[in-house]
Amino acid sequence: MRVLVTGHRGYIGPWVVRLFKDAGHEVVGVDVGLFEGCAFEPLPYADAEWSRDFRDLSVRDLASFDAIVHLAAISNDPMGELDPGLTRAVNLEGSVALAECARDAGVSRFLFSGSCSVHGKGGDDAPADESSPVQPLSVYAESKVLAETRIGALAQPGFSPVFLRNATAFGHSPMLRIDLVVNNLLACAVARGEIRIHSDGSPWRPLIHCRDIAAALLAIAEAPVELTHGLAINVGDDGQNYRVKDVADVVGNLVPTARVIYTGEAVDDPRDYRVSFSRLRRLLPAFAPLYDLRTGAEDLLRRLQQRGFRQTDFDSPRYVRLRTLQRRGEVAELRYEKSSV
Ligand SMILES: NC(=O)c1ccc[n+]([C@@H]2O[C@H](COP(=O)([O-])OP(=O)(O)OC[C@H]3O[C@@H](n4cnc5c(N)ncnc54)[C@H](O)[C@@H]3O)[C@@H](O)[C@H]2O)c1
Repeated sequence: MRVLVTGHRGYIGPWVVRLFKDAGHEVVGVDVGLFEGCAFEPLPYADAEWSRDFRDLSVRDLASFDAIVHLAAISNDPMGELDPGLTRAVNLEGSVALAECARDAGVSRFLFSGSCSVHGKGGDDAPADESSPVQPLSVYAESKVLAETRIGALAQPGFSPVFLRNATAFGHSPMLRIDLVVNNLLACAVARGEIRIHSDGSPWRPLIHCRDIAAALLAIAEAPVELTHGLAINVGDDGQNYRVKDVADVVGNLVPTARVIYTGEAVDDPRDYRVSFSRLRRLLPAFAPLYDLRTGAEDLLRRLQQRGFRQTDFDSPRYVRLRTLQRRGEVAELRYEKSSV
């Protein structure tokens, strides 16, 4: 397959490039480079690298592809709030325009990287599945829900979108992020000797290693197209729904010298949801995540220690998406570049 991966120089993208190439696919990556210079390790190269805004791609650019893996986005709640207009412009309008372009170019598969956070606040209710009412609690989550609806409406014979609602990612990537709950708790334990829990520790989060999101994308891209045509699919594992305090326990076992501190600074964060992954299991019974929380955290711990990860790394903007954007004024730049075309 010839595959276009948008946002391939972000956190999940390097795993997608690696796994798709290893499986024998030809991979072209397109990325505007918001986090250039923030890599933890050298990134794998795609077969071709386009340094462009995906919103500038034309039908002609897309004509030779069999599939698009669409990762590029303003990729979490705090970044989404920084500039809600831009978040909608990229995550919603840009994604819909890309899908329309893909349909017109005859690209048959469109894999959209969405989020389980569309489930919002479920708390101790039964785990949400794909038929549960969505409850987006942020501009980011809302942009993902609306993109699913509008791109879903484009599904037709010859154009098969599929919407991966990914659990919260964690674990090692060459383009590491430490603004995700597991990575943040672990990196803080290593760098500061503290496990700082911002909430009261009770909210639920489904978790998945970033490598396993890439593996799920590959499995879906290689599955018979009619199997996933137009579907939303929660991507994660039923055994990997955790309360934040249970994540802290796992981190505490790995870094026993770190002390647990409840900072109470995120008592207003309403996100709290458990998710069912039975559709993924039913559709792709052969797919199994390689990592669980413990093995993925152990692997990341080893890599942080090998690289001598310390407090200056933890405090720097390098691995925190929001800080990088704020420091560089990248958000303003992205808007400017697009509106100038
Ligand atoms: N990390 C998670 O926990 C998680 C969970 C669920 C869903 N997702 C979704 O998966 C996708 C990838 O997440 P990530 O963690 O790798 O994000 P990331 O922020 O690390 O990477 C996003 C990449 O997209 C690029 N990009 C942004 N706007 C662009 C544009 N207009 N044109 C071209 N490139 C652009 C950025 O430069 C960056 O390299 C996102 O859509 C995100 O919403 C992530």
